[in-house]
Amino acid sequence: MRTAVVTGGAGFIGSHVAERLIADGYRVIVVDDLSTGSEQRVPAEADFERLDIVEYERLRDLIISSSPEAIFHLGAQSMVTVSVSDPWRDSAVNVTGTLNVLQAGRGEQVPIVFTSTGGALYGNEAPLPTPETQLPAPVAPYGASKWAAEAYVQTWALADAVPHSVCRLGNVYGPRQSPHGEAGVVSIISHKLWSGEPPTLFGNGEATRDYLHVTDAVEAMVRAAGAGGVFNISAGREVPVREIFDLLSQESGVQVEPVLAPLREGELERSRMDPTRAAERLGWKAEISLERGVPETYRALVKEFETGD
Ligand SMILES: NC(=O)c1ccc[n+]([C@@H]2O[C@H](COP(=O)([O-])OP(=O)(O)OC[C@H]3O[C@@H](n4cnc5c(N)ncnc54)[C@H](O)[C@@H]3O)[C@@H](O)[C@H]2O)c1
Repeated sequence: MRTAVVTGGAGFIGSHVAERLIADGYRVIVVDDLSTGSEQRVPAEADFERLDIVEYERLRDLIISSSPEAIFHLGAQSMVTVSVSDPWRDSAVNVTGTLNVLQAGRGEQVPIVFTSTGGALYGNEAPLPTPETQLPAPVAPYGASKWAAEAYVQTWALADAVPHSVCRLGNVYGPRQSPHGEAGVVSIISHKLWSGEPPTLFGNGEATRDYLHVTDAVEAMVRAAGAGGVFNISAGREVPVREIFDLLSQESGVQVEPVLAPLREGELERSRMDPTRAAERLGWKAEISLERGVPETYRALVKEFETGD
């Protein structure tokens, strides 16, 4: 049976990647230290290894003994605020952890799909829509650690002639996203509305992001496995957070006025990535519109909130 390893598979996006690979007939091994993830999110059919990717030996032994066909590397310190308060841990997990994943798969020539970021990488001065050729200018340590990790991924790809891929994701939303993180806007606003509380819209509701449904993100990552290269994975649409609020407000039927607040430190005003390369090289484009994906996500999240998942 074909095997795939998913680091961060107890997290939001990783759990969807694991689910998809199982549906595709893979034996899936989820690697996660549960620092922000939850074992409940790991699909029942997957094998689960609780492991910190900063610890190289255990990771290497697992990769060598399981001979995976691909490694989907999503395990990360993914919070900008944490990267500011503890840049050492951010670097340890995102840079050393990625180096460990690359080294562990090296003898086996396993292609890796690394999940990077678009929003936190390109910075405030980038042209919109931003192409992959734009020189990164991250404003927070999280973007710097992802950029450094990308450099390792590309260097290892060149040195070993293995088609490792980098997926620079837009703002991913969907079922199983925690409302208690800092960036899951759809989930955070959904939870507030479900609780009958007014959500806060930063950038006075005008801050824009390039939103992407998790099912579309997973499809792109599956296509990127073994393709090699750096890809913007986004819908390529610039959407004000106010529009997300309006869609959720309509779906929930909850009438509350949002609190408008200025952007927080280190936050981007606008974001929109150019996904043309992914369309040309992976034959991929986002299929799920916000008008469909946001209300569907609200309904799924409400079930999770009600059961306390
Ligand atoms: N959600 C987004 O919109 C978005 C956008 C761009 C990039 N990304 C990237 O996609 C990936 C997944 O993001 P997510 O939103 O699902 O985040 P998440 O926090 O839900 O998932 C990350 C997972 O990694 C695990 N993890 C953290 N440190 C670890 C360690 N040292 N060893 C093993 N596991 C560890 C966590 O427990 C968690 O389950 C991350 O690499 C993130 O940086 C996400």
